[in-house]
Amino acid sequence: MPNTVILGAQWGDEGKGKVIDIYAAKADYIVRYQGGNNAGHTVVIGGEEFILHLIPSGILHKGKICIIGNGVVVDPKALLEEIETISKKGISVDGRLLISDQAHVIFPYHRKLDELKEGKHGKIGTTKRGIGPCYADKVARSGIRMADLLDDKVFRIKLKDNLDEKNEILSKIYDAPAFSFDAIYAEYTAYASKIRKYITDTGHILNEAIKKRKNVMFEGAQGTLLDVDHGTYPFVTSSNATAGGACTGTGVGPNKIDKVIGVVKAYTTRVGEGPFPTEFGPDLMDRIRKKGKEFGATTGRPRRCGWFDSLVVKHSVEVNGMDEVVVTKLDVLDDLESIKICTAYKFEGRTYDRFPANLRAMEGCQPVYEELPGWKSDTTQVTSYIKLPANAKRYLNRIQKILDKKIVLISVGCDRKQTFARTQPAKL
Ligand code: GDP
Ligand code: IMO
Ligand code: MG
Repeated sequence: MPNTVILGAQWGDEGKGKVIDIYAAKADYIVRYQGGNNAGHTVVIGGEEFILHLIPSGILHKGKICIIGNGVVVDPKALLEEIETISKKGISVDGRLLISDQAHVIFPYHRKLDELKEGKHGKIGTTKRGIGPCYADKVARSGIRMADLLDDKVFRIKLKDNLDEKNEILSKIYDAPAFSFDAIYAEYTAYASKIRKYITDTGHILNEAIKKRKNVMFEGAQGTLLDVDHGTYPFVTSSNATAGGACTGTGVGPNKIDKVIGVVKAYTTRVGEGPFPTEFGPDLMDRIRKKGKEFGATTGRPRRCGWFDSLVVKHSVEVNGMDEVVVTKLDVLDDLESIKICTAYKFEGRTYDRFPANLRAMEGCQPVYEELPGWKSDTTQVTSYIKLPANAKRYLNRIQKILDKKIVLISVGCDRKQTFARTQPAKL
């Protein structure tokens, strides 16, 4: 398998966990390159559900090395809980989980500031996991990295400096209680002793592996439209979920990456605030949310649902240099009479056929739709492309044509088995 980035092409929750798990069978290393435990990646194997937040979704395949890259922000408490949860299900990470010594650490003050900022200022609808404040410290050059956590002398100084600043912000801006140095120091040195064995120079390990022709899979979290540069800013997360993030977030050069695969949901969802031109009205919202079980894998919040937006995905194809597409959750559209695809936005007399950076246009636009007939039959038991109903093929072909990218895999249910290749180019 070539070294491949697999990432979300919309606003997250496209089914990356499922798709990564499938491709992971052929990889040697699976590496997360950004985000943190704001992610929730679901893998279902024989009816058993695993939700991964920080640990790469390849962990369910025995013998695969799973890496948390330098671009990830790690909450050690959440990580240890996740290790325990999966170990109770018989999955051991020992000897095959590695964490970058350059990854930044999430502290309780990050979580608190995330929560307070959401309450006080314009809402983003974050997961309140402390992701934004931790990345803010990283960029402000005051963050604490895994390597610092392991060095008691450095950790004491950095934690004290951070608390001096954060406690002042907490009391003066938010009128909130201060954090105690002793309590955090004790909590985090205990975490350090537990996770020390995983922490290493993962960039070097990955580059050496690539030299030996091992295969690396780069696991994106969130989605392209949540990318801090290429998404619907400011309604985004604080990292680069796009393909470029795979290099900066792992220490692997771009010339070592062979392929980018985008995971595309057959419709659109988003969690949290922000513009969503193709969002359904209440009836369809309720129907698709129920059928697609569209509730957040991390926070349990109901996801907002809407029609397939080709401006969003075309933008995603472009900024990621996407080579191939995997379409998920086709089965969720099984019952519909007809299905819409948004092909343009209209705003203040102008027609947009490309995704606009101007949020006012995105928020106020009228979507232009084309309508295709539904297939009104159950696809969850379909095992090959050829057996899909004609109108389902027609829908996929239309998406492929609009995106000008090959659809290589189709998913019609949450289980590993409910997936098939699109080997047969259908003519309709
Ligand atoms: P991720 O964040 O991109 O990994 O996606 P999530 O795990 O947050 O959300 C995707 C949800 O859809 C999960 O509950 C999956 O089990 C489920 N899922 C994935 N693919 C399919 C599919 O083809 N059909 C259906 N019905 N569910 C799917
Ligand atoms: P996966 O990897 C969907 C959204 C939040 C919020 C915004 C910022 O499972 O696809 P943050 O806590 O990151 O500062 O929140 O980003 N968000 C996600 N939405 N899937 C995710 O991850 C998300 N991670 C963050 O809802 O709108
Ligand atoms: Mg998710």
